[in-house]
Amino acid sequence: MRFVFLGAPGVGKGTQAEMVSVKYGIPKISTGDLLRAAVTQHTPLGKEVKQFMDRGDLVPDNVVIGLVEEKISIPEYAKGFILDGFPRTVPQADTLGTLLTTKELSLDRVVHFVIPREEVINRLSGRRSCSQCPAVYHVEFVPPKRDGVCDECGGELVQRRDDQKETVESRLTVYEEQTSPLIDYYRKNNVLAELNGSGSVDDVQERLVALLSAS
Ligand code: AP5
Repeated sequence: MRFVFLGAPGVGKGTQAEMVSVKYGIPKISTGDLLRAAVTQHTPLGKEVKQFMDRGDLVPDNVVIGLVEEKISIPEYAKGFILDGFPRTVPQADTLGTLLTTKELSLDRVVHFVIPREEVINRLSGRRSCSQCPAVYHVEFVPPKRDGVCDECGGELVQRRDDQKETVESRLTVYEEQTSPLIDYYRKNNVLAELNGSGSVDDVQERLVALLSAS
């Protein structure tokens, strides 16, 4: 099982990738999570990418390609994986294709999550992320049991820097310009499926599992 979750910022890719990962027992690779962890830990990689992420720009292709290449080469990923937020440019997609071909592998499905723009803004403006672990909440739609506290680890919930209004606008523009061409790219490869990402988290999960099971 090798899946790519594609879609604009805030459509729910990360939330669903986590659920599918648990359900099918396959790891997810979220380039956003990997990069944020590097920033939080002040690693040399984190220092290199922070400025791009704070502005809502994409991190250079060679950096994210290196991260993904490293991950999918380890045995844990041999039985499958979910790529959340990668690829995001045509060069990233080309490199992923070459990487898989050399291992005699291919993608089973690229799921394009679709929700209206105003829903994206609502989801991003209410998102709260744990400062200690990858858990993600929403103040209205996916609230934690205790205000401001992570259910999983008790960490403080914070708003991502790039979820501020001006940065969200810029991320949406970057998505339209640099990532949305991948919709046609994968449609031409016959692996693309559109998913209606509106509705509750559980409704979306039900639709997604039906789609992946038919892959
Ligand atoms: P990344 O973290 O990948 O950001 P993104 O693609 O913009 O996606 P988001 O994490 O914002 O949204 P999501 O679709 O995962 O939604 P979520 O499930 O959280 O990347 C961040 C940055 O890293 C980039 O800007 C770039 O700088 C860099 N980067 C990462 N990958 C890169 C790459 N490949 N190349 C170059 N640079 C890269 O849901 C959003 C909110 O909605 C949450 O609050 C959630 O609780 C809520 N929610 C989810 N589902 C529902 C639902 N059904 N109903 C109501 N609320 C819901």
